[in-house]
Amino acid sequence: MKKILLAGSTGYLGRFILEELLNKGFETRTILRDEKKLPKSTIENSNLEIVRAEITKAQSIENCCRDIDTVISTVGITKQKDGFTYMDVDYQANINLLEEAKRNGVKRFIYISILNGDKLMQLEICKAKEKFVAALKNSGLEYCVIRPNGYFSDMDEFYKMAQKGSVYLFGTGKHKMNPIHGADLAKVCIAAITNDKSEITVGGPEIFTHNEIAAIAFSVTQKKPNITHIPNWITKTLLFLLRTFTSSKVYGPVEFFMTVLSMDMLAPEYGTHSLKEHFETLKTTIH
Ligand SMILES: NC(=O)c1ccc[n+]([C@@H]2O[C@H](COP(=O)([O-])OP(=O)(O)OC[C@H]3O[C@@H](n4cnc5c(N)ncnc54)[C@H](OP(=O)(O)O)[C@@H]3O)[C@@H](O)[C@H]2O)c1
Repeated sequence: MKKILLAGSTGYLGRFILEELLNKGFETRTILRDEKKLPKSTIENSNLEIVRAEITKAQSIENCCRDIDTVISTVGITKQKDGFTYMDVDYQANINLLEEAKRNGVKRFIYISILNGDKLMQLEICKAKEKFVAALKNSGLEYCVIRPNGYFSDMDEFYKMAQKGSVYLFGTGKHKMNPIHGADLAKVCIAAITNDKSEITVGGPEIFTHNEIAAIAFSVTQKKPNITHIPNWITKTLLFLLRTFTSSKVYGPVEFFMTVLSMDMLAPEYGTHSLKEHFETLKTTIH
């Protein structure tokens, strides 16, 4: 059976991938900064080898790919604010890993980019991710670039706003998307270990407008629906001010969310997890 190196196992998607790898019996090595983020039962799994390393520092991950057949990386900046830019992490940290993979004769490298990343190159996050994708394509390794739609973890914001009584949406709220659960996406990533696809674009099984997602959040929280639509001119002005007066570390995540929430984001439908059921599970964790 192939031996896998997973980078990003402490994140939302990475945790589902790690669980799926171990359930399927893959010998797995993971590089991470803090193993306390993993469940105890996972840490104790005999098929898992944990290497504590800083992927942003090339020397710290030296030899991490020894005896590895396939690398999977979900490493990227989403919400954490530890002073790095997208270029430091989404690009350079993944380059550090790619160099190790090449040096150690890894056969396949699976990388998680973003839906429409190649069409939204004006955004800092997409610039960094697609620069890495270009390096991966030129690496000589077999590769698979996965471009997923927004994750259920990002939809939690709708739930949190509904719970507070008001949901704020950009524009008319009529743009559509099909977000995907981490467990469904993990299955796509694991399948990519053995299939020969080099690019996969994927979203969840249900298509919603933003207004519909807000309505589901209100129904699950049992709050009276109250949606405020922020006009496009306000969004554009805010973005201009942020780009002018703040660094990319501040405006990067904001410009990304404002942009993808101001357009349709649709990808081939996959998976079984429903967003309503996901919101139901949040009842016990988000108060
Ligand atoms: N969230 C979405 O809706 C979405 C949609 C499409 C694509 N994506 C992409 O999918 C990937 C996974 O997303 P996710 O939601 O699972 O992200 P996440 O929960 O934020 O996890 C990110 C992973 O990257 C690691 N990481 C980040 N900065 C690091 C640094 N400076 N040094 C070392 N490790 C670092 C994190 O490690 P620590 O736990 O140590 O911080 C974590 O394991 C990302 O590349 C993201 O851009 C996300």
